[in-house]
Amino acid sequence: MRIVLVGPPGAGKGTQATRLAEKLRIPHISTGDLFRANISRQTELGKLAKSYMDAGNLVPDEVTIAMAKDRMEQPDAEGGFLLDGFPRNVSQAQALDELLETEGIELDAVLDLEAPEDEVVKRIAGRRICRKDSSHVFHLTYSPPAKEGVCDVCGGELYQRDDDSEETVRKRLEVYHTQTEPIIDYYKAQGLVVTITATGRVEEVTGRALEALKRDK
Ligand code: AP5
Ligand code: ZN
Repeated sequence: MRIVLVGPPGAGKGTQATRLAEKLRIPHISTGDLFRANISRQTELGKLAKSYMDAGNLVPDEVTIAMAKDRMEQPDAEGGFLLDGFPRNVSQAQALDELLETEGIELDAVLDLEAPEDEVVKRIAGRRICRKDSSHVFHLTYSPPAKEGVCDVCGGELYQRDDDSEETVRKRLEVYHTQTEPIIDYYKAQGLVVTITATGRVEEVTGRALEALKRDK
């Protein structure tokens, strides 16, 4: 399957993508994780991306699209993929459509995770991620690690993302409403959008997502 995951910051895209990718046996491609990996390796792309991310803005389309395209062309993505955080505006969605058309493939669904703003703010405030692998995600209240400050999966150090400060989160939410939400209408016009409620326990949301994706087929 080829799926795009969309939803506000803190809706649980990363959390659900990890679980869905495993169940559906497709790679989880997160542009946020790819940028963070570049930041920790201190690449030129990482340095550029960090300046935008820390301000809560989108990284310029040109570099983002090139990075996403490169990742989608890796052999493990041939049979399908789950895109998390890409596309994030209408021009990225158009670029993705062009890329898919060139390859002669199509998206199966755009899964839209809906969560109220006060909930996503709480989720982001308590989020801690692993320095070794940013797909290892915890929450101080909702899914605390067994040992404070230490990743249960790999023993890495847990930290709070630089862009998770209250001020930057407000900016990211504004960017989501103005730039990312319009892609939902863009994909509705293609009949691809399935919307689910992203509140409740993590497993419940995964169950809802799998049901919705099945129903859609
Ligand atoms: P990105 O990394 O994509 O961040 P985001 O979209 O803001 O989303 P988050 O990672 O904050 O939240 P999430 O929905 O994944 O939630 P999570 O599962 O962690 O992007 C970061 C930045 O990179 C952007 O601002 C931009 O600068 C740049 N960027 C990325 N892609 C780009 C693109 N295409 N174009 C341009 N720029 C781009 O969950 C949050 C917390 O809640 C966790 O602690 C988790 O444990 C907890 N939680 C999850 N589900 C539940 C639940 N059901 N119940 C209780 N707690 C839960
Ligand atoms: Zn870890």
